[in-house]
Amino acid sequence: MTEAGSKALAISGLDCFYGEVQVLYGLDLVLNKGEVLCLFGRNGAGKTTTLKAIMGLVPAAAGSIRLDGTELTGLAAHDVPKAGVAYVPQGRRLFAEMTVTENIEIGLMTRGKGKAVRENVLDLFPLLRQRLRQRSGTLSGG
Ligand SMILES: Nc1ncnc2c1ncn2[C@@H]1O[C@H](COP(=O)(O)OP(=O)(O)O)[C@@H](O)[C@H]1O
Ligand SMILES: [Mg+2]
Repeated sequence: MTEAGSKALAISGLDCFYGEVQVLYGLDLVLNKGEVLCLFGRNGAGKTTTLKAIMGLVPAAAGSIRLDGTELTGLAAHDVPKAGVAYVPQGRRLFAEMTVTENIEIGLMTRGKGKAVRENVLDLFPLLRQRLRQRSGTLSGG
């Protein structure tokens, strides 16, 4: 979240459960605009659960998650990215059988964006312009 236009994220008193099992106990975390924050912990400590809670994929039983003051805990998972939080999970998660162009089109379609955003993306990653018709599963993983 270091890009210009990024927002402050503030989590306070977050409790999360899987069924009856409590995993997060009153988690507090502040990430200010322009900062990079690393969340460390042993396996099972609750790192992924924290990220899922931010993205609305695990409900917050208590506490709040605010992005520049906007409460995220009440939002449906598909509305959280629209509020301005992006989750880049481990792995590439491409539609391997589809081309680079088609993968980009799906992203644009879900956000109702068009040609201008597509051009921005291709300016950020210019090599993709040469590979628009390539099946994304055949791109190097490196
Ligand atoms: N879907 C789930 N159902 C039940 N328990 C889960 C689920 N996902 C994770 N857990 C449990 O929640 C705890 C935190 O897991 P997780 O957030 O994945 O930890 P981390 O990412 O830090 O390794 C662990 O005890 C894990 O077994
Ligand atoms: Mg994890």
